[in-house]
Amino acid sequence: DWTMGAYREEAIRKIREQVGDKKVICALSGGVDSSVAAVLIHEAIGDQLTCVYVDHGLMRLNESEQVVGMFREHYNLPLIHADESELFLGKLEGVSDPETKRKIIGGLFIDVFQKYANGIDGAEFLAQGTLYPDVIESVSFSGGPSVTIKSHHNVGGLPEKMGLKLVEPLRELFKDEVRALGHELGLPASFIGRHPFPGPGLAIRCPGEITREKLEILRKADAVFIDQIRKHGLYDDIWQAFVAILPVKTVGVMGDGRTYDFACALRAVTSVDGMTADYYPFTHDFLGETATRIINEVKGINRCTYDITSKPPGTIEWE
Ligand code: XMP
Repeated sequence: DWTMGAYREEAIRKIREQVGDKKVICALSGGVDSSVAAVLIHEAIGDQLTCVYVDHGLMRLNESEQVVGMFREHYNLPLIHADESELFLGKLEGVSDPETKRKIIGGLFIDVFQKYANGIDGAEFLAQGTLYPDVIESVSFSGGPSVTIKSHHNVGGLPEKMGLKLVEPLRELFKDEVRALGHELGLPASFIGRHPFPGPGLAIRCPGEITREKLEILRKADAVFIDQIRKHGLYDDIWQAFVAILPVKTVGVMGDGRTYDFACALRAVTSVDGMTADYYPFTHDFLGETATRIINEVKGINRCTYDITSKPPGTIEWE
């Protein structure tokens, strides 16, 4: 009889058998896959596991604190919060090309992870939240787009470079099974049901040059949009929803004066796997109310648009 409880026991047995008394390191991203992998491995080998949360300064409002807090307090899991936002934002200064941004972030991520991992004496294993579809994809589209999409999170090439062996306890599971396992392991439902979030974070939701000012405005606008979606009970019907801050300022009028502030775009899509997507059909009332809230509550934005592009021909992200 197949149950997640049985899978959990079996996975724990296998992890113990593979790892023995050696140390394991894990790059925790705050996503569901790496989180479930980390909690499962921690259950199997306790403090032989150390997690590293690489904070690139491109997370959403309060997100890093929430993720780190949950794992430290709720799971008592050894976790290094590698706050390297100054490093990442510094290297991204003046960069506007989307692929260059991704390369910089991916490269720094590996450097930073390696730096912290080297500080953990005698680590022999690297844990990854690789799923069954990732295994399939990397075989059938080797070098193709799906590999590029995942390349940031899976710290590609790192195990060989550092001489580490892989621990991948989710390799046989699909996404819905990982969620079920996360539930079994006691991860909060709100955490398990979170929308996917790209490795490069807000960098690819800030087309063009990234500045601290734009990031701060974007975080606030995004938080209002997600709050609206939750309040209207729509969060679980949507695959991903976010705000992109546009590299353009427009004129507006507020009170007695004119404003000259950033425009933003709301993006919300339905999808099964992220490969194709349709824009979410919000009501006009919802859109109007959301635009009003963002413009009233977020200083620095005076115009709000809704992106109604499907994928293809558009992508989900703006970069
Ligand atoms: P696009 O924009 O290509 O996105 O339609 C498809 C899915 O992939 C996510 N995405 C990324 N994830 N690193 C990631 O880890 C990336 O560079 C990246 N680019 C896009 C996106 O959020 C969506 O779920």
